Amino acid sequence: MATKVIGWLDERMGLLGIWNTIFDRKVPKVNWWYTLGSATLFLAVMQGVTGIFLSIYYVPTPEDAYNSIEYIMNEVAFGWLVRGIHHWGATLMVVTVFLHMLRVFFYGAYKYPREVTWLTGVLLLVVTLGSGFTGYLLPWNQRAYWATAVGSSIVGTVPLIGDFLLRVVRGGDDLTILTLARFFGVHIWFLPASGFALIGVHLYLVIRNGISNVPQRGE
Ligand code: HEM
Repeated sequence: MATKVIGWLDERMGLLGIWNTIFDRKVPKVNWWYTLGSATLFLAVMQGVTGIFLSIYYVPTPEDAYNSIEYIMNEVAFGWLVRGIHHWGATLMVVTVFLHMLRVFFYGAYKYPREVTWLTGVLLLVVTLGSGFTGYLLPWNQRAYWATAVGSSIVGTVPLIGDFLLRVVRGGDDLTILTLARFFGVHIWFLPASGFALIGVHLYLVIRNGISNVPQRGE
């Protein structure tokens, strides 16, 4: 029955072709370091899924943000688990993305023809770190507030346009409801949307160019 359904769909949608291109590729003999990109991908998806669930209860206003997180932790069924995965997943993702980048660097996998894969990776690194920075403010507790006050003040040290950039990041001179609103918007819309689009291009290039070999001595 299942084979019939798949056959029917395949005839009309070319599903097996897509499946074979993605999962039935020729891969050189590699090692465990090559799993770090997939580990990062898994974490990115987990962050997306847990973030969607958190957005059901989280309220992005200075009055309610902290309380809504307390509510998620203490009242919502498995809220502590979903938030815990999102919290620790963010930290773990920063670790895996850096290790993945180091693997690519030390194996010289950024060289021809994978330069654009590397460039999309650099943008993904910025998106990952930006997500961590904007997410950190959302609980709106003392630590979040002052970490963002310090973090955003660094932007203000850019020569000439520092003051302007600081106001763009904060939505004014101080950390207010406007800061929380824009960090929330950037955290749940701008960064995930650009991140998953970039991951699409990144993975297309990984499939198109194939996985690089483990470099041999003298290469
Ligand atoms: C959200 C972040 C990222 C995800 C989900 C991701 C995902 C992946 C996956 C699944 C692969 C194939 C398996 C592997 O080689 O590990 C890969 C390969 C690659 N990635 Fe990433 N990556 C990310 C960030 C980065 C960063 C920060 C860089 C470098 C700046 C980078 C550069 C590359 C390159 C050059 C390859 C090809 C490696 C080869 O052919 O050996 N990626 N990526």
